[in-house]
Parts: sequence; C-alpha cells; structure tokens
Amino acid sequence: MRAHWLDDETPIGPDELAAQGVHYQRLELGAHQAPLDALSAAQGYVHQDEVSLSPETPNLDAIEQKFLGEHLHTEDEVRFVLEGEGVFDIRSADDRWMRVTVERGDLIVVPKDRHHRFFLTEAKAIRCVRLFQDKAGWEPHYRAPAG
Ligand code: LAC
Ligand code: NI
Repeated sequence: MRAHWLDDETPIGPDELAAQGVHYQRLELGAHQAPLDALSAAQGYVHQDEVSLSPETPNLDAIEQKFLGEHLHTEDEVRFVLEGEGVFDIRSADDRWMRVTVERGDLIVVPKDRHHRFFLTEAKAIRCVRLFQDKAGWEPHYRAPAG
C-alpha cells in the first residue's frame, strides 16, 4: 500500500488512513481466509466473491468508466487484493482526495457513505476478494458535479 494526499503529495500512513475511517491491513496470501472470516463476523459481511479485471475482460473500458466517477455506496467497500494492483481515491472528512494504491496482500475497507473512485494502473489487472453485507446495497451513487 502506498498513499498520499493528491493536492500536496504528502504521504499518508496507515494511522492517518485509520483516523480517516479507512481500514487497511496486510494479510498473508494463503492465510487470508481466517482473518477475512473474522472481519466478516465482526462487521456483518455475509457474502464473499471474487472479481477480476484484466485487458481480456469484456467491456473493460466501460467498467473502468463506471468506477472512475466519484461515487459512494450504502455499505462498506471491502477488497482484498490477490493479484495485480489498483488505485482508490478516497475523500477525507474534509473532502480532500487521499490516493491509495493497493497491491497483492492488501486489505482495504472504504467505509459506507464515503465518496471514492477507482482506477487500474498501467498493468490493467487486478483480482480481489470482495466482502458484502447485501449485494443490493452495492449500487454506486454518483456525486453531483460541483457547482
Ligand atoms: C466499486 C469500486 C471499485 O465500486 O469503487 O466496485
Ligand atoms: Ni465503489
């Protein structure tokens, strides 16, 4: 995981992410299911699936566009990266952008009702475990453009 403020490029560590309500954790690949189960039990996530994006994914451009618009969900966005990497821009409490690049072994939880956007790196590939409370809550709600 690497993170920085987008406006002044100063680094952001795990403690500051936590203070902003973003949970981040390293998990050992292969030994990740038990900690994910513990997190699910604690937070009430009842569904687990896997999502994969790569240059071979049909409609990759459209999918990337969908994630690139600033949006929120009415439940937490939980991702554990199995392969590849991706970038989350997440709003802070005072509406600045925090740019968080995640890679293999990174667990990140974007809290519900928090605006964010997502894009792939040059490699255009990521495979993640997702945990959900309710797939129906998974609609993106796009932010109205400012003024
Ligand atoms: C999502 C991400 C990628 O909504 O923000 O699935
Ligand atoms: Ni999202």
